Amino acid sequence: MKCEFSFNPYRKESPDWSDSFFDFLKSSDMGEFHRSIDGYAETPVVSLPKLADELGLGEILIKNEAHRYGINAFKGLGASYAIYRFLKGQWQKKFDDAFSPAGFKDPATMQRLGSFTFCAATDGNHGKAVAWTANKLKQRAVIYMPDNSAQARIDNITKENAEVVLVPGTFDDCVEKCAGDAAKNGWQVIGDTAYPGYMEIPQYIILGYSTIFRELESSVCKPGKPDLDLVFLPAGVGGVAAAGASYFTLRYGKDRPKLVCVEPNESDCFLESIKNGNGDPLFTKGNQMSIMAGLNCGMPSLIAWPIVRDSMDLFLGVPDSWAEAGMRAYFREGVVSGESGSSAMAGLLALMTSDEMRAARERLGLGRHTRALVLNSEGATDPVNYQRVTAEPFYPF
Ligand SMILES: Cc1ncc(COP(=O)(O)O)c(C=O)c1O
Repeated sequence: MKCEFSFNPYRKESPDWSDSFFDFLKSSDMGEFHRSIDGYAETPVVSLPKLADELGLGEILIKNEAHRYGINAFKGLGASYAIYRFLKGQWQKKFDDAFSPAGFKDPATMQRLGSFTFCAATDGNHGKAVAWTANKLKQRAVIYMPDNSAQARIDNITKENAEVVLVPGTFDDCVEKCAGDAAKNGWQVIGDTAYPGYMEIPQYIILGYSTIFRELESSVCKPGKPDLDLVFLPAGVGGVAAAGASYFTLRYGKDRPKLVCVEPNESDCFLESIKNGNGDPLFTKGNQMSIMAGLNCGMPSLIAWPIVRDSMDLFLGVPDSWAEAGMRAYFREGVVSGESGSSAMAGLLALMTSDEMRAARERLGLGRHTRALVLNSEGATDPVNYQRVTAEPFYPF
């Protein structure tokens, strides 16, 4: 399988997001909420000078989410904030006093609200994050996973006292089964993907992820212009890509860095929509069997799609071999990253070194003056495969 790319014909220098559809982007209480959760710490920005030199770039910075909240991925930011906003909504329907992050942590407040069953479809990390949040609140969680999920990823979820339902098929089959069971049983879906009739919670999830990018204001995202030229973001349903794209677009407008969206080419729904669509999202033609499990999503989230479409510069589709190269590149530098976590790095390596992407790197004019930021979205979530991949020498250098 080959690397593929498409520049974005829909990109706007200054997207018009004045429509009420985009109002949710005005929320600003995410940082306050995340700081209130035990174990909060800004995740590090790590420079990889050796790799930058090898690739002919000025600087490569990693926003390293491998250890966020001690649960191996950035996803806790989204699930916790979405559940907080859901509970706040429930509270406001019943009581006159305010619901704050302190209330979220207070068992007596939760008791007044009653009990809930939260459910979600996942390839691993999002389900773990929902289970982790529900467990903290002593609420029930039911998580739907494809039946070919790695045992370690299933165990990560059951460790949080959640029930796991294995569904024959893909992530999208899990989304459907989860929505059906929730409707039957009166459960609350905490889904990261938006589809017709289900738009609100995925907005909160995107807002939750935006904390990753707001934290960059203490380093490379100072007011005015960013100290960055190029940013690589992974996309499954597009939540974190939308969080990053909206952050850079709203903060810097036409001075934003070039934004690159990376997907496995086995589940490249954004690339497919950009290349072959008419401005609306399309289903991937891939088989959704990538080892980048968290990115095995057939269809863009309807909330993420217009943000990503309006603001990204370039879309990349990479085979699994490049994700493995990304894991090894990180490993060599002492950064732990799993298969999905390495996808944005896979995009950087492929863009800078693959024959298929020569035209893309030339058009971007990349060189020793270029400062790139790459999101490492995950630690080693499947330790057995992590051992296998990182035992091999770093390809292709
Ligand atoms: C490690 C990791 N990276 C990236 C993604 C993609 O995020 P999104 O589905 O918001 O596009 C996921 C999704 O589960 C993930 O687990």
